[in-house]
Amino acid sequence: MVEAVTVTNPIFSISINNYKVKNSMPSFFFQTFGCQMNVADSDDLQRMLEARGFSNCNGIENADLIVVNTCSVRENAEQKAKARIYEFSRLKKKSAALWVVGCMAQRLGAALKDEIPGVDLVIGAKEIDSMGMILDQYFPRQNALHTTLLKKSEISDFLAVMRGCNNYCAYCIVPYVRGSEKSIPVKMIEEAIKRRVSEGIKEINLLGQNVNSYNDEGVDFADLLRKISSIDGLERIRFTTSHPKDCSEKLIKTIAEIPKICKHLHLPFQAGSDRILKLMNRRYSSSQYRSLIEMTRKHIPDADITTDIIVGFPSETDDEFRETLNLVKEVRFTTAFMFAYSVREGTRAAEMADDVPGEIKLARLKELIEQQTAITRAIYDDFVGRELQMLVSGRQEKREKLWMGMDQGCKRLLLSCENAEAGMIFKVRAVKSSGMTLICERI
Ligand code: 5AD
Ligand code: SF4
Repeated sequence: MVEAVTVTNPIFSISINNYKVKNSMPSFFFQTFGCQMNVADSDDLQRMLEARGFSNCNGIENADLIVVNTCSVRENAEQKAKARIYEFSRLKKKSAALWVVGCMAQRLGAALKDEIPGVDLVIGAKEIDSMGMILDQYFPRQNALHTTLLKKSEISDFLAVMRGCNNYCAYCIVPYVRGSEKSIPVKMIEEAIKRRVSEGIKEINLLGQNVNSYNDEGVDFADLLRKISSIDGLERIRFTTSHPKDCSEKLIKTIAEIPKICKHLHLPFQAGSDRILKLMNRRYSSSQYRSLIEMTRKHIPDADITTDIIVGFPSETDDEFRETLNLVKEVRFTTAFMFAYSVREGTRAAEMADDVPGEIKLARLKELIEQQTAITRAIYDDFVGRELQMLVSGRQEKREKLWMGMDQGCKRLLLSCENAEAGMIFKVRAVKSSGMTLICERI
């Protein structure tokens, strides 16, 4: 089990005091790695800093506070974050503070400061709930004036409804770095959504490592979805992730019934072989997974189903990998996130021999990606000619005349239209497929 250490650096408060005197409008710069939960945590932290008089600056050269939010899920995620932290410690101005937060910060704790001397403060993912208090130590909250500096309105936002995970899948570091499962109370979720809707948000994306185990005094996730669907001005509700072992028929029926809930389920299956699923401690079999897909398609025929898959888990044979390929072919996921197994120290799988050679892992990954890419393409191609509902999220940077958005599932759409605006919802028809986007026209 990984021992988590969090440290505060007294020198840091001195440097903060220095620039507080010099700088009446301090600025921050964020770099976020990892999953949507990290994006949501960075957003929350930015709001908190803005309420304390900070503004967002886009380059690191002028920033007074640089925050790197890190991921630990695979070895290369940590390597990427470390490289960036080194770079920032060289590029930042002398008086600036460099904070490392999130999952790698939790996993490595004080050791990170020894490894990269420019780091001033390490705040682990388990401390996220106490961030307000930690920030108060360094920057007292300002008066109400600054609360109007809250993040600019966007169309879609992430909101954590649960934190932590109790599942202990054998390969996964998350339960160690994020701690055990906690549900955020319904009242707080409703208030947060209403506030964001009043700032211009049209779509909310509810996050949890396993939203299906949400429970606030008997209110389960399906009940939560129903409750928030009555919020005026909120047009769309998305959520992720659903652990297949806990995904109930009640939830699927709720998604089918309520128009605001997007017809998209992210159901990571990880491996097609029952022996590997057992070793992974996933607690479902491939046939139970198949039945869940069948039930989903029965209630929501057009649902976009997406997944996560790991290849090269310890002792995975070529035949077992073929079982993964077969399941992918059978289910026809709209998209999939596919990974080569990476040993995470402290997890149960780290005690197993990492015996699938690196080149075999990569060859399996390549084959899987090729197969899935062809399926994604076929699904997009099949939608040409069909009517969809599009929420416009913004302009496409490269081709200014095109607007980007999503359908009610998770398909990416591009709309050619003169007078659109982010936040609008249109009935459109798909006229062309690129294999990963649909070009649409307004109806
Ligand atoms: N190696 C490879 N992939 C992993 N994931 C989690 N831990 C590991 C690991 N050690 C993948 C799983 C999970 C997704 C977020 O990351 O597929 O669903
Ligand atoms: Fe990790 Fe499993 Fe929890 Fe997902 S459900 S965060 S894979 S332990």
